[in-house]
Amino acid sequence: MTDKSAIQALCAGRPVAVVGAGLVGAGWAIVFARAGIDVKMFDANPDITARAVPLIEAQLAGLHRYGLIDEAPAAVLARITPVATLAEAVEGAAYVQESVLERVDVKRQLMVELDALVSSDTVIGSSTSGIPGSAFALGLSISPRVLIAHPVNPPYLVPVVELVPSPETAARTTEFADALMLAAGQTVVHVRKEAEGFVLNRLQAVLLREAWALVQDGVASCEDVDKTIRDGLGWRWSFMGPFETIDLNAPGGVADYAVRLGPLYQRIAQSRQHDGPWDADLIRQVESQRREHLSHADLEARRAWRDERLMQFAASRQSRESQA
Ligand SMILES: NC(=O)c1ccc[n+]([C@@H]2O[C@H](COP(=O)([O-])OP(=O)(O)OC[C@H]3O[C@@H](n4cnc5c(N)ncnc54)[C@H](O)[C@@H]3O)[C@@H](O)[C@H]2O)c1
Repeated sequence: MTDKSAIQALCAGRPVAVVGAGLVGAGWAIVFARAGIDVKMFDANPDITARAVPLIEAQLAGLHRYGLIDEAPAAVLARITPVATLAEAVEGAAYVQESVLERVDVKRQLMVELDALVSSDTVIGSSTSGIPGSAFALGLSISPRVLIAHPVNPPYLVPVVELVPSPETAARTTEFADALMLAAGQTVVHVRKEAEGFVLNRLQAVLLREAWALVQDGVASCEDVDKTIRDGLGWRWSFMGPFETIDLNAPGGVADYAVRLGPLYQRIAQSRQHDGPWDADLIRQVESQRREHLSHADLEARRAWRDERLMQFAASRQSRESQA
């Protein structure tokens, strides 16, 4: 749920800039606009900005259909202004959310440009999936006001945001981002130390590494690995984490679980060396298995299907939480 009075206190009517309007940037524009903030949206490729607007319009219509926004979609859309330059985007902005390509050089170059453009109190969050701020945000006058604000795609439907300060990030920057994200309806995870991949993608990395290995070893097909999560582990994970899961899965709680099943997990860990690259032949094999289920041409339609399912899920979760 968004808290528009908290937003007002934080931003004082100043806009937010979204820099990079691809999959993630367009989603961020919705997060801020539905919270009542004016958003300036910029992408280095004007075609992407032009494509983002109808996409956002369709996503807002879906949110409205599921009761996930309390205003007409047009009213939220009216707060999002596509702009042609970075300077226009960040002028007077209280906060900048960068969502440009996942490359250190691209992110560093953007930080240098922002250093010359933003107001002296603008806070800057980076959507990077796993690059610590130390790799691209140090040694500039903005550095105390830069931190990682890593979302899950699409950020307007999946609430978690990892906040990761660099060694140069000021405490008040993290406090501002924490308050802004909460007021915008997101859930905040504070990552206390810089670690490549933060928490979310480190967890995902382990799961994906084993998923690739199970297919490579012929233990299961790609579809059966997906089914194991979709119709198995994922059911609980939609409302509880792995520690709570195992705490409930032994009569005496987590310590009892460790006694009963710890040795099994240790043997599994010992059976794997998880430090190799994702194998090219294996990628081809999984690509071919996936394409049997979904053609390239259907990827975009399937993304829309996924978002629709997430909207149904968000609506049912919202109604359960309001009854609790
Ligand atoms: N896709 C995901 O699931 C996901 C999830 C969380 C975080 N992220 C992170 O979000 C960021 C964006 O990822 P994405 O999936 O939206 O990629 P994307 O390719 O869809 O969008 C990136 C956009 O950045 C634009 N761009 C590049 N340089 C720019 C610049 N200097 N100024 C303005 N725009 C510029 C590109 O034109 C492109 O439209 C990455 O850091 C990514 O790791 C992605």
